[in-house]
Amino acid sequence: MPVEKRKPLISGNWKMHHNHFEAIQCVQKLSYMVSKEDFESVDVSIHPPFTDIRSVQTVIESDDMRFILGAQNCHFEEMGAFTGEVSPAFLAKLSVGYVIVGHSERRELFGETDEVVAKKISAVFTAGMTPIVCVGETLEEREQGCTEDKVLSQVRAAVAKRSPEQVGSMVIAYEPIWAIGTGKTATAGDAQSVCSAIRREVIVSSGNDVGDKVRIQYGGSVKAGNAAEIMAQPDIDGALVGGASLDPEEFSRIIQYRLHN
Ligand code: 13P
Repeated sequence: MPVEKRKPLISGNWKMHHNHFEAIQCVQKLSYMVSKEDFESVDVSIHPPFTDIRSVQTVIESDDMRFILGAQNCHFEEMGAFTGEVSPAFLAKLSVGYVIVGHSERRELFGETDEVVAKKISAVFTAGMTPIVCVGETLEEREQGCTEDKVLSQVRAAVAKRSPEQVGSMVIAYEPIWAIGTGKTATAGDAQSVCSAIRREVIVSSGNDVGDKVRIQYGGSVKAGNAAEIMAQPDIDGALVGGASLDPEEFSRIIQYRLHN
């Protein structure tokens, strides 16, 4: 079905780990381990905490690294009286390319609804960046057989009323909540089946070409040891990696998954 191969995107979500000194070291170490050829085959984004972003930007730019700077969240307004929040426009000014939106930790711990997530997606696009929109089911929902209902309703809310250009350029990350930080991964077959349902949903809402273009990541206990099998699935175009992205050696082996088949 694919018209042209979607370039995989491997993203490292550091969550609330690494201060700005540790962040600089981590990115420098990683850059020694990743080659020019790796970047020909995959895009790599790094999502440090907000307080590290300026430092990481400086390292990336001064050493001409090909990592794409990412953020983990943003507010949906451009400016205003929102104490403690971060404007998407400020992130764009720091050369941030990708912003994670609606991570399950934000949805569960900070009450982000589909409506808030949709506003954030719009704000990220308006600021000229690309959202990585997270969707996923809880263990309870999975056990009740509601995985697709939950995930596809989140996808519908994320793509509703958007132009085909926007939908085609966004990244959707399927992250089953029970697999995050637990060491449990969905089997590659299960992950493929949900990712393929996500693509079908995008085709229904936005057409074949858009469905073909949209990049879908899997996230949830991705490690060097399981990355190749996950990435081999036809509807999985990348990985959103948490814990394993904190260790440059492990993360570099995930980025080089194609060498470890
Ligand atoms: P882990 O890779 O630590 O399971 O985290 C996944 C995740 O939430 C990435 O956003």
